[in-house]
Amino acid sequence: MNESSTLLDVRDLKTYFPVRGSWFKKLHVHAVDGVSFSITRGQTLALVGESGSGKTTVGRTILGLIPATAGRVDFQGQDTTAMSGGQIRRLRRHMTMIFQDPFGSLNPRMTVGSIIAEPLKVHHVGQRSERRQRIDELLRTVGLDPRYAGRYPHEFSGGQRQRIGIARALASNPEFIVCDEPVSALDVSIQSQILNLLSDLQERMNLTYLFIAHNLAVVEHFAQRVAVMYLGRLVEVADRDELYNDPRHPYTEALFSAVPEPDPRRRHTRVQLEGETPSPIFPPSGCPFHPRCPLTRQVAAGHTYLATSGVSGCGNGKTPPVNFKPQPLPPGLLREVGYQGRPSLVVAKCMDDVPVLEPLSSAGTTSSHCHACHLRR
Ligand SMILES: Nc1ncnc2c1ncn2[C@@H]1O[C@H](COP(=O)(O)OP(=O)(O)OP(=O)(O)O)[C@@H](O)[C@H]1O
Ligand code: SF4
Ligand SMILES: [Mg+2]
Repeated sequence: MNESSTLLDVRDLKTYFPVRGSWFKKLHVHAVDGVSFSITRGQTLALVGESGSGKTTVGRTILGLIPATAGRVDFQGQDTTAMSGGQIRRLRRHMTMIFQDPFGSLNPRMTVGSIIAEPLKVHHVGQRSERRQRIDELLRTVGLDPRYAGRYPHEFSGGQRQRIGIARALASNPEFIVCDEPVSALDVSIQSQILNLLSDLQERMNLTYLFIAHNLAVVEHFAQRVAVMYLGRLVEVADRDELYNDPRHPYTEALFSAVPEPDPRRRHTRVQLEGETPSPIFPPSGCPFHPRCPLTRQVAAGHTYLATSGVSGCGNGKTPPVNFKPQPLPPGLLREVGYQGRPSLVVAKCMDDVPVLEPLSSAGTTSSHCHACHLRR
């Protein structure tokens, strides 16, 4: 994979929303807090995480719909965060979005034809008759009859409405599409039809997707790479097969264990996460997952402690590295904190070390440094 095949490169992206604080202190929602990844042209990166983790905000910031607080977004080698409003609007011809709610995202007072024609008008594409032809062609492309162009969104089923949303996204001939949970609102039987359609379109048009999902099961056959997001940060980024066969981060394991797995060889140990996701206004110090991480408690209970050359931390009970040596717990490893109203021991390093994003491969993709998932290297 060479550098020129990278269509989108996101570096240390931060998006904070101001919220009402006190007179002395301004408060912010840290919706996206230092996210880095890249997507190869013609491929799909899935962005997975629970509700409120910041997935949509990443997508909207990339498209310039929300200003970035810090960091950069290189699209086709150009930093979009440094562009003017006019430049961003012109760029949106090449990057667009498909939304989760196929009904809410379509104007009920507009006909399907005018909904699909909207981006063509905004970007001044073609004359009236050419637009008419393009609408017919787009409806056919997404598997709908061009005679439906005069109908209104309420006359269609959920799956058909999502096809209309896809036709609108394709209208300006984009190269990159943020698919924001495009199948979560649909019946399971319809989900696979829409996923197949997106996959066919990707192959035919060499499209690049950032595919947002709650559920790891949805993206398994769809994405080449998967990024797992928690509380505004990426905790693990890996190739699909690597992640599905051997998830390293305890939060990824927790997401997997929530998915029913019929194949007993791939069943994951049930990881029960305690407590609520912390507030993104006051994210925890160090590793944002530390208040809920089951590993810190395993170490506290005296389970596993890994000491590899120069790296120390808690182990996740997986195949240890060659130079694995179980160690007695060194003094100061654990710290007592109040957690959900009772005293609890956590690994001090997890509280203090801000996870560092470090290169995982020559393609410049990254993975967080966690004491558990560090083993991937
Ligand atoms: N305009 C805004 N102003 C203030 N806070 C916001 C705004 N938009 C999003 N947030 C907050 O930012 C955080 C991330 O929201 P976001 O919608 O990106 O999450 P998500 O992962 O897409 O969630 P979901 O899976 O529910 O769609 C949440 O805490 C949300 O409440
Ligand atoms: S850094 Fe510590 S708290 Fe965070 S996921 Fe890894 S083991 Fe858990
Ligand atoms: Mg969302």
